[in-house]
Amino acid sequence: MKILLVVGARPNFMKMAPLYFEMKKSNHFTPIIVHTGQHYDYEMSQAFFEDLLLPEPDYFLNAGSGTHAEQTSKIMLEFERIVLQIKPSLVVVFGDVNSTLACSITAKKLHIPIAHVEAGLRSYDETMPEEINRKLTDAISDILFTPSKDANKNLLREGIKEDKIFFVGNIMIDSLSKIIENLDNEKEETVLAKFRVLPKSYCLVTLHRPLNVDSEEILRSIIETLLDISNKLKLIFPIHPRTKKNLERFGINTNFNNNSIITETLRYTDFITLEKNAFFSITDSGGIQEETTYLGIPCLTLRPNTERPITIKEGTNELVSLENFENKVEDAILGKYKNGKIPHLWDGKTSTRIVEIIEKWIS
Ligand code: UD1
Repeated sequence: MKILLVVGARPNFMKMAPLYFEMKKSNHFTPIIVHTGQHYDYEMSQAFFEDLLLPEPDYFLNAGSGTHAEQTSKIMLEFERIVLQIKPSLVVVFGDVNSTLACSITAKKLHIPIAHVEAGLRSYDETMPEEINRKLTDAISDILFTPSKDANKNLLREGIKEDKIFFVGNIMIDSLSKIIENLDNEKEETVLAKFRVLPKSYCLVTLHRPLNVDSEEILRSIIETLLDISNKLKLIFPIHPRTKKNLERFGINTNFNNNSIITETLRYTDFITLEKNAFFSITDSGGIQEETTYLGIPCLTLRPNTERPITIKEGTNELVSLENFENKVEDAILGKYKNGKIPHLWDGKTSTRIVEIIEKWIS
């Protein structure tokens, strides 16, 4: 049975990899990787395929960047061609990026069933493009795999039938735990030496949400706060292409103190090593809220809401605002931060559960 696994942007790759390998082991499935090309820089895409030991994608749709309508429509046109040619038994989509929605709509209109991995997350903030992608993808999916029980409740509230929803845990943890298992002291020390840091002596920063980086006033204010923070603690700040473009466009000074490091985006293994050894993290990413919860690293999330409330309820995550962000950082430096536990079924076995369910569902 041919199964299309659709990825497009960086956070998709570590969610797809474990399912690809699990399907490869099964006698029933031929997994076929379709990469829409939403992310195309070497560091945003190919480096992740290498670190996750994935083969080259079977199909690369070369959609690239653009407005939401441009990007979504380019992906739909190209993906339709592939679906008509391959006639898969199932299309699997991951997360909440534009590629997720574009390929779900395309498949559904060709009467191909869809499985959505990471279904049911909701920020209830429709100014986020991801929220629209999540809701619409879930509305037309045939099998919905959720990472946490709150996601099941969200889906039921939206009228999705219970027999379509499967709580399987967080698939990203499958990739994360595998990378952590393969790290030894020597490998960790090599990465830390490359960034000239000792464990727990720095703060790992990432920012890329349009809300934080697309407005000059907000971005300038965040960077000014980070400049202050860098007087107290070294920062490592891998810069997303969206953020980099805007810092250049607005002419914002990023000369942080304390030998802080601004770098290009990092490959998966290096980033996870830095995350595992960080004192704490400042982020607006969804995935990092989850990874830090799994790793037990305090996380300050610069957002008014999160679609991943379990990272706050059970994990190490805390939402911060532009107003209280510097105080929260000072608290963290003084050791006042949240402790947490690993949520249920974030155990590295989510892909196994998904394959078992798909086998039954298809038969
Ligand atoms: C996308 C996802 C977001 C996810 C993020 C992770 C959507 C709506 N957003 O946001 O949910 O958290 O990926 O990174 O799908 N660019 C490059 N090289 C690349 C890719 C992008 O330079 O390889 C630049 C382009 O200028 C582009 C901009 O980054 O216009 C934004 O890329 P885009 O894919 O539109 O959204 P992200 O901000 O990356």
